[in-house]
Amino acid sequence: MGDPLTECHSRLEQQEKEIKSLSAEIESLKNPKNLEPTARLDELREENTKLKYRLNILKRSLQESPPVSALPCDSKAMLNINQRLQHIFGGAIGAAYPELEHPPLAVTPSQQAKFGDYQCNSAMAMSQMFKAKGAKVNPREIAEKVVKNLPDNELIEKTEIAGPGFINVHLKRSFVSQLLSNLLVNGVQPPPLPKKKRVVVDFSSPNIAKEMHVGHLRSTIIGDSMCRLFEFLGYDVLRLNHVGDWGTQFGMLIAHLQDKFPDYLMTSPPISDLQAFYKESKKRFDEEEDFKKRAYQCVVRLQSKEPDFIKAWNLICDVSRKEFQRVYDCLDIKLIERGESYYQDMMTEVVKEFEGKGFVELDEGRKIVFATGQSLPLTVVKSDGGYTYDTSDLAAIKNRLFDEKADIIIYVTDSGQASHFQVVFAAAQMIGWYDPKVTRVEHAGFGVVLGEDKKKFKTRSGDTVRLMDLLEEGLKRSMDKLKDKERDKVLSPEELEKAQRAVAFGCIKYADLSHNRINDYIFSFDKMLDDRGNTAAYLLYAFTRIRSIARLANIDEAALRKAAETTEVLLDHEKEWKLGKCILRFPEILQKITDDLLLHTLCDFLYELATTFTEFYDSCYCIEKDRKTGEVVKVNMWRMLLCEATAAVMAKGFDILGITPVSKM
Ligand code: ARG
Repeated sequence: MGDPLTECHSRLEQQEKEIKSLSAEIESLKNPKNLEPTARLDELREENTKLKYRLNILKRSLQESPPVSALPCDSKAMLNINQRLQHIFGGAIGAAYPELEHPPLAVTPSQQAKFGDYQCNSAMAMSQMFKAKGAKVNPREIAEKVVKNLPDNELIEKTEIAGPGFINVHLKRSFVSQLLSNLLVNGVQPPPLPKKKRVVVDFSSPNIAKEMHVGHLRSTIIGDSMCRLFEFLGYDVLRLNHVGDWGTQFGMLIAHLQDKFPDYLMTSPPISDLQAFYKESKKRFDEEEDFKKRAYQCVVRLQSKEPDFIKAWNLICDVSRKEFQRVYDCLDIKLIERGESYYQDMMTEVVKEFEGKGFVELDEGRKIVFATGQSLPLTVVKSDGGYTYDTSDLAAIKNRLFDEKADIIIYVTDSGQASHFQVVFAAAQMIGWYDPKVTRVEHAGFGVVLGEDKKKFKTRSGDTVRLMDLLEEGLKRSMDKLKDKERDKVLSPEELEKAQRAVAFGCIKYADLSHNRINDYIFSFDKMLDDRGNTAAYLLYAFTRIRSIARLANIDEAALRKAAETTEVLLDHEKEWKLGKCILRFPEILQKITDDLLLHTLCDFLYELATTFTEFYDSCYCIEKDRKTGEVVKVNMWRMLLCEATAAVMAKGFDILGITPVSKM
C-alpha cells in the first residue's frame, strides 16, 4: 500500500487531465445526443470532489501534527506512541532519502510479539516509488539506511529488519513504564489542542408530528458519541437538533387541530397520539377538497406569522418534543433544538445572495442552483414560492459558518442523504462561504437498521417500531438477563435498577457504535445482551470485575494514588508488557476516530483491552492469598496499578461512547 497522500494526489491529477480531455472532446463534438462523455464527466467530477476532500483531510492531518521537537513528552497528556514513532521515522526517511517527495510513512502496532512492538513498513512502498522512477532499490537496503538515520530518541530500545524490509521496533520498557505512571498520576488527559476549535454536530433531528424512527436512533447514538469525543478533546461543541418543524404538513395539522379542538387557544389540546393525528389529517387532506384548500391557507397564515397560527404550530411541536424528550432522557442525550423554522428568515437572504451572484436558474417555475461539479441541482424556491429542505440547509450551513463561527461541521444522517449534503456543500463552496482546506464540513452517513431477518426493521405485524417501545423492551430483556444470572439476589433494588438501565441502554448504544457506521446494521437484542464477545454486556462485566479487584483487597483510592507516585510499574512478565502497551494505545485510537469519525475502532480497542486484561489477570497474580484462610498475604502493587490504568482507560472509553458503567452488577 502506498502513501495515501501521494496516491490521492496522483489520482486527482490523472483525473483532472481526463476531465480536460473529455471537456475538449465534448466541445469538438458539440453534439448533445452523444451522452457518453458527459456522463463520464459527471462521474469524474463527483469522484474528484471526493478525492479533493480526502486530500484535504490528509493535508490537514499533516499540518496539525506538531514537529518532533514540539511533542510534549513531559506534559500531562497521554503520549501518542504511534504518532511519535511516525515523526521519528519520518525524520529518518527524510534524512536517508531527501530526494523522495512525499515518502510513504507507515507505522503500525505489531500483531505478534516476535515482530517487536511496532513496525515501520515504509521500505517496500519506497522501493516501489523508486521502481516507478526506473531505479531498482532493494527494500531491505532501504530499511537499513532508514534505521541508520534514526535520530536519538527516548522510546526506541532497538530495531530489527525482518522479511523483505519490515523494520520491527522494540520500545524501551522504562519509557513505557514511565508513561503508565504518568497516566496513573495525571489521569486520562486528552492531547493538547493547539487552538480551541468550534464544532457543530447536527444529529438526531427527527421530524415533528412524525415517527422518530430507528434511523433517528442511530443518528442520536452516533452523533452523541461524536460530541462526547470532541468534548473530551477540548473542542467547543454545539450539539444541534435540526428537527423538521417547518413545511407544508403543518397546514393540514393546524386545520385539523382547529376542527378537532376548537378551543385549542384556551386549553392545550390533549393529543395523546400525534402519529394518529397526523394520519387523520393526511387522510382528510387527500380526500376532502375543502380541507385541502384550508390547509393551504393555514400554511400561508403560519408563514406570515399570525399569532394564532404560531400558537397552534407550537402546540403541535410541543407534543412531539415531549415524545422525543422521553427517548433523550433514557439515553442521556443533551442537545439544543434548532429546527428548520429557525432559519426561516435567513432563507430569503440566502436565495437573494445566490440570485445576486447569478447562480439561480429558472426551471418550470422553480428556482434552481447548479453547484460546481454537481449534476443534480438544488431547488431553492418551489414553484409555489415555498422553500425546501435544500434552502433550509443552505441557510443553516451559512449560519453555522458565519454566526456560529464553526471550524468543523458534521451532519449525522443515514447515507441516503449523502448526495443532498454533497450538493449543499458544493454550493456553499461555490458561493465562497468556506474553503474545505480551512473548514472541515462533513456528512457522516450511516447504513440502515435491519431486523434479524435482514429486512427493514419492523414489528412482527409489519408496523414501524416505536422507539419508546424498543427502549422499554430493552429494559425488560436486560432485567430478565440479570435475573437469569441471579443478580437480584446480591444487588440491592437500587443497584439492580441501575444495572438494568446501564445494561439495556449501554447495549443498545454499543451495538450500534461497534459496527462500522457505513454498513447496514442488524438490530438484535439477543446479540447485544450476550455477555460473551464484543458487546457492552461483556465490557461492563469486565469493567466491574477490574474495579472490584482493588476493593476486595481493601485498597482504597488514596492508597492507589500514593502507589502511583511511588511504585514503579514493572513490565517484566510478557502479559504485563502486552497489557501496558495496549493501555497506551488509547491516544492513537482517539486520533484515528477524530480523523475518520468511525467510532467502532474505539469499541474494537476496548474489547481488545478487556481481553488483554483477562490474559494478564489469568497469568499474573495481583493479590496472593493464603490457601487455607483466604487471607490476603501479599499485594503486588504494580499489578494493582496496571488494573487501575486499564479501568481508567476503559472508563474514559465508555464515557466517549455514552455508556454508564456501574460499580456493581
Ligand atoms: N429531519 C431530517 C430527517 O429526518 C434530518 C435532518 C438532518 N440535518 C440537516 N441539517 N438536514 O431526515
